Amino acid sequence: MRTARSSGLAALTLVAAALGAPAGADRDIAAEDFGCLLEMTPVRGFYVSNLHGDLAATLKVAHSETGGVWPPGSVVQLLPNEAMVKRAEGHNPATRDWEFFELDASAEGTSIRARGFADVNNRFGGNCFACHVQANPGRDLICEQGHGCDPIPLTAEMARALQKTDPRCSNAPELTAEEADALAALQAALD
Ligand code: HEC
Repeated sequence: MRTARSSGLAALTLVAAALGAPAGADRDIAAEDFGCLLEMTPVRGFYVSNLHGDLAATLKVAHSETGGVWPPGSVVQLLPNEAMVKRAEGHNPATRDWEFFELDASAEGTSIRARGFADVNNRFGGNCFACHVQANPGRDLICEQGHGCDPIPLTAEMARALQKTDPRCSNAPELTAEEADALAALQAALD
């Protein structure tokens, strides 16, 4: 016979499931988890958020001078169309639990072109993990500049221009003249 107590517990379990996984646990990641880059939290030249609501833990590592292990749920993006998301501890030891995403961003939202661990390439054929694994020990696969990764062919100005023209952002700020030039140079190089 079901007691009031056991059906109460069952109801609580349903509520917990509807609200999503508790902080620290893993949950799947969907296109809707990504949005306007400029609404994430800026750290130096890139942006972060935490899908588990633990932004403080993400920012603690992001701002640490010596690096550290990024907490589960951390989202890191330099560009609107690429992301790294930290899955639960042990989810994929080979990539230190980072999942790589190649995204399409448009005014309608985000769609996922490719996702996975050691086998995701950017649209120029570069393997995300192969570059990011070169980051110095202690950096947890975060490259930035000067942490040992092969460089990407983007200046800081080009990256900033791509961030500011993320098509998912409303009220995007104006580009400076330098950023507009950088974007034009990038577009010319890609044509
Ligand atoms: C050629 C090597 C290379 C490839 C391939 C590459 N990256 Fe990176 N990535 C870098 C470097 C270097 C930086 C730092 C750039 C900077 O700060 O100017 C970076 C920056 C980033 C950042 C910001 C955090 C950080 O590590 O500095 C993210 C997130 C990121 N890349 C995700 C990806 C994803 C996802 C892919 C594949 C779809 C990818 N990258 C492919 C080298 C690479």
